[in-house]
Amino acid sequence: MSKISGFSKLSKSDKVDWVCSNYLNGSPDARLIIKQYWNSDEKLQKLHDEFAENTISNYYLPFGIAPNFTIDGKVYCIPMVIEESSVIAAASKAAKFWDNKGGFKTEVVSLTKVGQVHFTFKGEYENLKTQFDENKSTFFHEAKDITANMEKRGGGIKSIELINKTEALEDYYQLHCTFVTADAMGANFINSCLEQFGKTLEKIMNPQFQVEVIMCILSNYVPDCLVRAEVSCPIDALAETKEDAENFAKRFKYAVEIANVEPYRAVTHNKGIMNGIDAVILATGNDFRAVEAGVHAYAAKEGQYKSLTHVEIKDNVFRFWIEVPIAVGTVGGLTALHPLVKVALKMLDNPSAETLMRIIAVAGLAQNFGAVNSLVTTGIQKGHMKMHLLNILNQFDATKDEKEKAVEYFKTHTATHSHVVDFIKSIRS
Ligand code: MEV
Repeated sequence: MSKISGFSKLSKSDKVDWVCSNYLNGSPDARLIIKQYWNSDEKLQKLHDEFAENTISNYYLPFGIAPNFTIDGKVYCIPMVIEESSVIAAASKAAKFWDNKGGFKTEVVSLTKVGQVHFTFKGEYENLKTQFDENKSTFFHEAKDITANMEKRGGGIKSIELINKTEALEDYYQLHCTFVTADAMGANFINSCLEQFGKTLEKIMNPQFQVEVIMCILSNYVPDCLVRAEVSCPIDALAETKEDAENFAKRFKYAVEIANVEPYRAVTHNKGIMNGIDAVILATGNDFRAVEAGVHAYAAKEGQYKSLTHVEIKDNVFRFWIEVPIAVGTVGGLTALHPLVKVALKMLDNPSAETLMRIIAVAGLAQNFGAVNSLVTTGIQKGHMKMHLLNILNQFDATKDEKEKAVEYFKTHTATHSHVVDFIKSIRS
């Protein structure tokens, strides 16, 4: 396979030509497909090209909406970006189910973010500690240029602690720092503060106490940037008959308890939750990798990977809730740049970061309710394959007429992939 130097300096067209000639056998089809996704609005296309490096095209994902979510008494229409069928349908169904039962209630438990300066020191810890304690205010003072704006918005540095980690790793120390970042996700703010702390640290300590800063970086583990969302209702309201309702509540609770004690199930259980969470994170221009990493670490905080959702049945009331760390922003980054992100945020009434945390937790809880509901009743495939039917039909370029026939047929037949393929073949022959 070919190599190239200076690829980033080529024009977009030349990049396409190079990749088509060298990796796609000069395929005119591939070239056409890559260019088919270019936007005819040049300004918009340029905007997207500049989000990342070496861009040659756009990669579309469906942008859908799940309406009728009542959250803390306010009705929301939640934007969701996701390629998987059934997710938005399940969210909408859960929203409807809980709507006449008081809707979703949320609480932002905490808003603290974390960053660390990792460094080495070879001398006596007591000397380091004394020097650090005597000069602590200098860290705040020397970061003033960076923090001034954030402080005006109600954020800033909360704490800077010296931590001795030498039991874990020889000569390893850190400044463990906490921040509040108002409506920003805060990655740039935190990393800028940390790099300044690194400089201040070396200035204060050296040459008397030789410290060497290894790296300065925020942590995506944010167990103190926590949001809770819950639904509850009398057990009787869960189904038409008392017997069905009690049976459903019991099976649902047991399913969640399985996810709490069995990591193989917990991972899939939480994956379903992330279907909802990531979809809103993406629609609102936030960093889903950061949230994913933090959420899964939180799920394993007790030393075993566990369910992010919980159920309690008490005094004839069914209560179902989620607790997740969600560090997101509604200002800065893509939120100010991507036109569809701006629409998504407007749809949510331009929420604060705190409100967006609440909405995201609700999307995760709703998704999990939908999934576990299906799993303990009809099974997941019934609804899933119904939605997936259209994808399979599209793979076979089914006509409108063929689609109508298939939808009708699979109302009463199980829509597995091979059944759908056989059906298409049969109506075509
Ligand atoms: C599929 O994307 C998600 C589910 O597997 C989640 C779950 O099993 O709870 C349905």
